[in-house]
Amino acid sequence: MNCLAPSILSADFSRLGEELSVVEKCGITMLHIDVMDGMYVPSITLGFPVIKSIRKNSRMLFDVHLMIEEPERYIERFAECGADLITVHAEASVHLHRTIQQIRQLGKKCGVALNPATPLSVLDYVLEDLDLVLLMTVNPGFGGQVFIPAMYEKIKRLRGEITKRNLKTDIEVDGGVKASNTKAVLEAGANILVAGSAVFEGDIEANVREFQRILQVV
Ligand code: DX5
Ligand code: ZN
Repeated sequence: MNCLAPSILSADFSRLGEELSVVEKCGITMLHIDVMDGMYVPSITLGFPVIKSIRKNSRMLFDVHLMIEEPERYIERFAECGADLITVHAEASVHLHRTIQQIRQLGKKCGVALNPATPLSVLDYVLEDLDLVLLMTVNPGFGGQVFIPAMYEKIKRLRGEITKRNLKTDIEVDGGVKASNTKAVLEAGANILVAGSAVFEGDIEANVREFQRILQVV
């Protein structure tokens, strides 16, 4: 199923609860939560207290994107705080297979993220264990960047591999997704679209409705 996962990175944090209820009321079922540690990526964003607090008022699936070094150190804590899906970067976890098992043992959905320059081959021996692959379509660290066009080909190749192996793995794209490129991204084979600035800048409800309109047509 195709869906939009708004990224709270671009929300107004002084009104976070209100802005999240707006997207949830529009029918959004998946929320993308970007955690950055100032090491794996230059920025520092949010952590346990924020996730725990928004968990109390939301039924959306919490899609926690860990842009942190050695994410295995914190998997359990994020699970306790209310993450439903935990995504780690392949580049940040030396023993990726073990980290994936750790997430699964906690009963959470598991995703692996790849930076734009990271080849798909790092997934060769773990793809079967994943619920989702997150393809970064900008270099991680900041919202509001421009989608890297070479990533269309990467999405297509990954969709081809998933189909070849007869899997149901979701492909999530993250970075520079706008209403204007949604159709092309879906046609390349992605089915979960993360959008931060394109959702939270301006009229949130109108932005979500526009994405939903396109998702229904494609
Ligand atoms: C970037 C984050 C993204 C970010 C996307 O490192 O992983 O989730 O919020 O922001 P936009 O949609 O503005 O490119
Ligand atoms: Zn993200």
